Amino acid sequence: MLMMEQRRIVTWVGTYGGESVEAIIDLFLGLERMAPGSLETTAKAFQVAAQDYDIEKIVEFGCGSGVSTIELARLSGAPIIGVDNCAPFLAQLKQKIAQAGLDQQIQVREQSMEVAWRKGTCFDLIWCEGSAYAIGLENALQRWRELLKPGGRIALSDLVWIDTDPDAEVQEYWQNQGVTLCYPNDTLALFSSQGYQVVDYFIFPESDWQNYYQPLRARLPRWKAEYSYPENAGAIDQLFQEELRMYDQFKAQYGYAFFIAQRAP
Ligand SMILES: C[S@@+](CC[C@H](N)C(=O)[O-])C[C@H]1O[C@@H](n2cnc3c(N)ncnc32)[C@H](O)[C@@H]1O
Repeated sequence: MLMMEQRRIVTWVGTYGGESVEAIIDLFLGLERMAPGSLETTAKAFQVAAQDYDIEKIVEFGCGSGVSTIELARLSGAPIIGVDNCAPFLAQLKQKIAQAGLDQQIQVREQSMEVAWRKGTCFDLIWCEGSAYAIGLENALQRWRELLKPGGRIALSDLVWIDTDPDAEVQEYWQNQGVTLCYPNDTLALFSSQGYQVVDYFIFPESDWQNYYQPLRARLPRWKAEYSYPENAGAIDQLFQEELRMYDQFKAQYGYAFFIAQRAP
């Protein structure tokens, strides 16, 4: 069982070292966000996605503990299925759903983003914040297209290069993490080649990174001191401290972008 859980989440945490899956889950269970973002950014992307289009049914992939799921439910008023393969994150989301009285509107499914859906399943909007890279952007776009009605929308956020000549150190860092960063234009071309028409894209403001990194910075030392397996905690702490250091040093060179597109007919 543990092995299965490890295998299922390793695509995400693999970027941080698969040996400490439980430790990473424990670290993130104490954080609101697991990627850069804000309620404002979620709302901005939703407005673009919903422009001149009725959103009646939504699926969110890699919803985690649901920071954007709850906001999306409020913004859209539409039924949402939140999909994630990590049960502890979904348990947290279920608590939030109950607290917000949104049980009728939001369902959660513990399954892979790659799982095939029943034939004929169709959504008006696919949402994915900070998670698509876990299965590869091209793969995600290919798989998810058939889940969208013609004209249906997709909004997803991903890491991108901003500097045209990023420093070798930061390139090497992300490469070693197994994370592929594209230039926004390349991602836009990928959308087109996979049968989508891009509606718009925008780069996250710096404050969206702080929404993620400030609580992470604050939590790491306390968590490291308290977590039951000090060796794992030490290794994970080091990995995230390195990610934070990269950001501090090279934040002008890369960023997070939201891409909003519609399924081409
Ligand atoms: C970086 S977190 C982002 C979570 C959330 N969207 C947020 O912004 O806080 C990535 C999420 O994707 C989930 N995940 C990773 N690989 C997955 C897969 N193959 N299928 C389903 N969920 C996956 C992880 O469990 C995690 O909740």
